[in-house]
Amino acid sequence: MEIKFRDTVAERIKSDLLVIPVREKQLDDPVLRALDRRLKGHLRARIDKSKFTGGEGSALLYATAGNLPAAQILLIGLGGAPVSTDTWRKVGARARKEAQAIGAGEIAVLFAPDKDSESSAAAAFVEGAQLAAYQFNKYRSKPNGAAEVQSLTLFRSGLHKAAALQKSVEVAQAIVPAVFLARDLVNEPPSVATARFLGAQTLRHCHGSGLSVEVWNKKKIAAMKLAGLLAVNRGSLEEPRFIRIHYKPKRKAKKKVLLIGKGITFDSGGLSLKPSKSMETMKLDMAGGAAVIATMSCLPKLDLDIEVIGYVPTTDNLPGHNAQKPGDVIRYLNGKTIEVLNTDAEGRLILADALALGAQQKPDYMINLATLTGACMTALGTQVGGIFSNHQPLADHLLRASQAAGEKLWQLPLVKEYKELIKSSVADMKNIGGAHGGAITAALILQEFVGDTPWAHLDIAGPAFAESDNALCPKGGTGFGVRTLIQFLSTL
Ligand code: BES
Ligand code: MN
Ligand code: ZN
Repeated sequence: MEIKFRDTVAERIKSDLLVIPVREKQLDDPVLRALDRRLKGHLRARIDKSKFTGGEGSALLYATAGNLPAAQILLIGLGGAPVSTDTWRKVGARARKEAQAIGAGEIAVLFAPDKDSESSAAAAFVEGAQLAAYQFNKYRSKPNGAAEVQSLTLFRSGLHKAAALQKSVEVAQAIVPAVFLARDLVNEPPSVATARFLGAQTLRHCHGSGLSVEVWNKKKIAAMKLAGLLAVNRGSLEEPRFIRIHYKPKRKAKKKVLLIGKGITFDSGGLSLKPSKSMETMKLDMAGGAAVIATMSCLPKLDLDIEVIGYVPTTDNLPGHNAQKPGDVIRYLNGKTIEVLNTDAEGRLILADALALGAQQKPDYMINLATLTGACMTALGTQVGGIFSNHQPLADHLLRASQAAGEKLWQLPLVKEYKELIKSSVADMKNIGGAHGGAITAALILQEFVGDTPWAHLDIAGPAFAESDNALCPKGGTGFGVRTLIQFLSTL
């Protein structure tokens, strides 16, 4: 979809669909009145007959019957002021969906946001319009044939192709393919998306200036003493992989950030087997890894002055004949030991290796993303991820980034008193806590491996996977985290 900017008025622009975002109860705005005169008062009459008031989420479609160069008009409600970027994103998505529904190839948008948020509004609108078009058709004999939208023109009288506007739209256009990559990787069936597959996809997608990839095989993983990854992999016939992606900026790096993503390609629970229902979506368990690979893949396009390293430990978690057993103890490269009492608490076991290895690199920040606990989903639902951190400025920055990116995060506490709950009778800790606070005890186990590195853990078990279609994403992998990470890195 081509994005264009034009300095013109609605009466002059030819399109299949003219989108006019309208503020709540501001239907008397001069632009609308002028249009209505061209339409001989029919638009006004139509609005009056409908219940359309410009409330957020409302819309009204109107055929111009040849009285304008545009074939149809779509009024979309923005709600009351101030209009958030989140709203612009959803309005963009709505415009795209309606255009597809009526087969409109060319969309023109009368773009008149608040002056001080013009570039973020434009970026959000374009991002929403692009995100909404995602489909995963690889395994359908007949693709879900939605109509193609060829162009999207943002216009208004006096709209110059301001450099800031152009730049932020370009950033949005760099982010969307990354989000789609993360969705694709999650949606791929688990017998296809193995650890080897993730390694190969990383090599395929992470290239460009400054980016390099290493994919460690089992032998190298053993040599590097990644004992947690080896332990979880024991029940599988598929080899594990440890993916390492490195972005080195052209100029001197201002900061060094380490991103770590959980890459369990299928979580059966291992010998502590999950019931069938809980297993249905467990191909999602590499969503954190997918978000890291996807984020890294778009760094060359963003050209930031930050060194970024991505780690994705990856394997499936299966109960094969050599599987690890409840009661086994893992000894980690930093000397710490974990007693495995439940093989379904496997994410923390493979993240522990990566965090310990990452801490040795002395990054300024270390951030991990993981579909870690059902408990976090119970606490925050499917729309909100949990964030834990040992460094409040980092947590605050990530919370701000997630808000700007339109991905919801909520901070949960690292309650040190709960360390009692992960005490083991034979090892330094056990891999499960008590009956309650499961998201917190999981985070406390991770914390044992970060030392004093400023660190944040994002538990994305809920928002990584949409259980039904929504405005920005169909049912399946959402790519959650990619937009937040890019926003975070871009504002460091
Ligand atoms: N991958 C799951 C967590 C999960 C559950 C993600 C539902 C997305 C949706 C994780 O490995 C797991 O099984 N966690 C257990 C931990 C328990 C055994 C301590 C859980 O949450 O039940
Ligand atoms: Mn599990
Ligand atoms: Zn898991």
